[in-house]
Amino acid sequence: MSARLIDGKVASEAVRASVAAEVARLSAEHGLVPGLAVVLVGDDPASAAYVRSKGKQTVAAGMRSFEHRLPATASQDEVLAIVAQLNADPAVHGILVQLPVPKQIDPHAVILAIDPMKDVDGLHPLSAGLLASGLPGLVPCTPLGCLYMAKTVHPSLAGMEAVVVGRSNLVGKPVAQLLLRENATVTVAHSQTRDLPAVCRRADLLVAAVGKPGMIRGDWIKPGATVIDVGINRVPTQDGKGRLTGDVAFDEAVQVAGAVTPVPGGVGLMTVAFLLVNTLRAACAAAG
Ligand code: GUN
Repeated sequence: MSARLIDGKVASEAVRASVAAEVARLSAEHGLVPGLAVVLVGDDPASAAYVRSKGKQTVAAGMRSFEHRLPATASQDEVLAIVAQLNADPAVHGILVQLPVPKQIDPHAVILAIDPMKDVDGLHPLSAGLLASGLPGLVPCTPLGCLYMAKTVHPSLAGMEAVVVGRSNLVGKPVAQLLLRENATVTVAHSQTRDLPAVCRRADLLVAAVGKPGMIRGDWIKPGATVIDVGINRVPTQDGKGRLTGDVAFDEAVQVAGAVTPVPGGVGLMTVAFLLVNTLRAACAAAG
């Protein structure tokens, strides 16, 4: 058997096209142009590449992009001062501070300082609390992308056994909350889970968000299950360039699963698409 591929390129293009159409309408009818500010502290090449890509896609969707770069030696107060300035700027509807930040900066303090109305990353405790309470609010982008991809296979997730491997604030916990909101039966597994392969084998929908290349093996997957691979791990190759790979042993998974997301070309592309969705939502909410 060979699993169906859930193509992140196709899905993310559809999401970005619908955002662009709505942005065009908003700016033509109401003169409202959504704006996204991204703050990058330090010069990690992977983070810099993500930030460049976010900026390009923001502009391509017809929105304003603001980029703030600080040196790796920046103090927490300097970062907080930029966040305060962006909170007060009416042209900025969404604020994202690229993570991870250098070790002299407390990421929680930075996230807490962001105006929850502009929290397009959905990481502020208020956003997390609204999601956990089933109330409307901004939801983290990668989990929204996971849900969108799962729904291309299963328009209704009600009653499905979903297993999320990983419990981070960025992915594991919010994706579990979203699946619960869709009436799935949700198990959150993690590094201390006993007999993880057996827990994974229960899943009709398996979401892997652990950051360990190829950890989920083919025989951990129930035949026919849908597998969403959130991992983006760079592994060394002989030519020294490295290669991106997911948390799922893809070659094994395609033999067993009913549908699977590839890496690259899967969930990663959805994250930026839903960042644009969240910026549009934040702009509409700000306009009332
Ligand atoms: N670094 C990796 N993924 C993310 C994300 O979704 N948001 C932020 N702020 N930083 C990240």
